[in-house]
Amino acid sequence: MADQTLLGEVQGYERPDHRANANHAATAPAFFSAHDIHAYYGESYIVQGVSFNIHEGEILALLGRNGAGKTSTLRAMARTGSPLVTHGEIWLDRKPLHRMKSYEAAQNGLALVPEDRRIIQGLTVEENLELARIAPDPGWEIERVYELFPRLGERRKQEGTTLSGGEQQMLAIGRALVRQIKLLLLDEPYEGLAPVIVDEIEKTLNVIKAQGITTVLVEQNALRALALADRAVILDTGTVVFDGLAQEVLDNEELRHEYLAI
Ligand SMILES: Nc1ncnc2c1ncn2[C@@H]1O[C@H](COP(=O)(O)OP(=O)(O)O)[C@@H](O)[C@H]1O
Ligand SMILES: [Mg+2]
Repeated sequence: MADQTLLGEVQGYERPDHRANANHAATAPAFFSAHDIHAYYGESYIVQGVSFNIHEGEILALLGRNGAGKTSTLRAMARTGSPLVTHGEIWLDRKPLHRMKSYEAAQNGLALVPEDRRIIQGLTVEENLELARIAPDPGWEIERVYELFPRLGERRKQEGTTLSGGEQQMLAIGRALVRQIKLLLLDEPYEGLAPVIVDEIEKTLNVIKAQGITTVLVEQNALRALALADRAVILDTGTVVFDGLAQEVLDNEELRHEYLAI
């Protein structure tokens, strides 16, 4: 068992299982693949056998009612340790994230922007970005983040925690982009923001996509997320109940009503 693990890590070339997504060509490994993930908070069994694939360069909307397990699934993917993943495999660009700690997953290109944004107190906008950029593989130049979010450039000397909610969200996304990332996980980025700010952030998600970065968008505002996303995965009580094109969800009233209440 130990030898097998080691072999897989050394070779770094094990093929993920493809049963999770019939749409994907059977010969090519999925860019991202979660296979039969089970995860617990203590005794609470929350993620109950979740499988899905993500194609490189797409925006995937991860949807479901409040409490469906969206945040828990993102946290499992990011290897946070809470919830604790007890079973399953998670692959990103042929790397076995399920064998990694959170910092290793981050080093391998995964970035989680949590719902509470976690802006570091006492640091300016620029210092928040500089701190994030101290990584083995830096990503975007800070100036490029300011081009994407001009508001951040204007407020570069302002303390990050004094920004508006929308600006803090921009800073949280900017902090992810200054690292070399492959997969961006956004947990309810539009929450509590005015529609014009949501428009602004949505536009930047398209720019980020055009740069080749793959995004998972968790949103309560399912219609907005579906309008932007290429594909959608819907969760209900910790299991996948839909995996397909975003347009299919928009076209399927029954599905929307049953699992998204829209
Ligand atoms: N830290 C935790 N400890 C115990 N249960 C939790 C914890 N966080 C979330 N849960 C439970 O896990 C379930 C899924 O929560 P969550 O992943 O946050 O759902 P969503 O993000 O879809 O709203 C809910 O029943 C929630 O109460
Ligand atoms: Mg959540």
